[in-house]
Amino acid sequence: TDYNSVLVEKRGAVTLVTLNRPQALNALNSEVLRELIEVFAAYDADDSQHCLVLTGSEKAFAAGADIKEMQSQGFAEMYSANFFGGWEQVTSTRKPWIAAVAGYALGGGSEVAMMADFIIAADTAKFGQPEIKLGVTPGMGGSQRLALAVGKAKAMEMCLTGRMMDAAEAERSGLVAKVVPAEGFLDEVMKTAEAIAGMAPLAAIANKEMINAAFEMPLNQGIRFERRLFHGLFGTEDQKEGMTAFVEKRPGNWKGR
Ligand code: HXC
Repeated sequence: TDYNSVLVEKRGAVTLVTLNRPQALNALNSEVLRELIEVFAAYDADDSQHCLVLTGSEKAFAAGADIKEMQSQGFAEMYSANFFGGWEQVTSTRKPWIAAVAGYALGGGSEVAMMADFIIAADTAKFGQPEIKLGVTPGMGGSQRLALAVGKAKAMEMCLTGRMMDAAEAERSGLVAKVVPAEGFLDEVMKTAEAIAGMAPLAAIANKEMINAAFEMPLNQGIRFERRLFHGLFGTEDQKEGMTAFVEKRPGNWKGR
């Protein structure tokens, strides 16, 4: 690929994206964001790809937004550039994606992991929102997504003290879907990604869309949204195929339509 800060590899139907700024523990600068926006848009548009895994290194998923890039910025520059606003393009990805976190996921690193549909953590993972130690706050959705994931008490304590949360606590608190040993970590994540990539593609998008609706809509609206989308899938070939395959005791052969 022609990217500088990320590595992109298609493994079957799974796109593996590796943050690659080891000299800065994968700190997220404007170049990383620019490249990820392209990578995620290309993934969404690629009919051969059905799950994406975003990962970092053994030591760090990402140690935050790039402090050296932000250090000298003023309000007008941040506001006019809508600094970090581009991440909304990443979170508008329609197909499923997983954050695979080993090592540090701090500040913006944790925030990007929380943008994923879910997080799988290695037992070495450490999450934190240490922005308060820099005189600021989370700026990529962390205060909102952390509070939704772990509740007010832990979100407040994490953001006000800047302390780190280890993988076991993250799992207990509902921040991550599961924790796996660092040894063989990515292979385990790839198994989950391949399982998702093997599902009916439209059903994957619909499941994702309706779970996200739970965080954006009142319950009665969300339930109606779910039911309509569920009804809608009965207009797809894959619904006929999936239910026929069950009755015939064979795996489904998906068309994505
Ligand atoms: C820029 C970073 C960086 C970052 C690490 N580096 N984190 N550069 N931005 N967020 C750089 C270091 O400067 C250093 O480069 C190299 O990566 C290795 O880091 P060390 O600190 O030497 O490693 P270590 O001693 O192992 O400590 C690891 C660490 C520490 C605990 C993760 O690096 C750390 O605390 N990083 C900052 C974490 C943080 O505050 N993140 C939140 C950022 S603000 P050199 O060239 O010196 O060797 C944010 C919120 C954005 O994300 C929204 C609000 C603005």
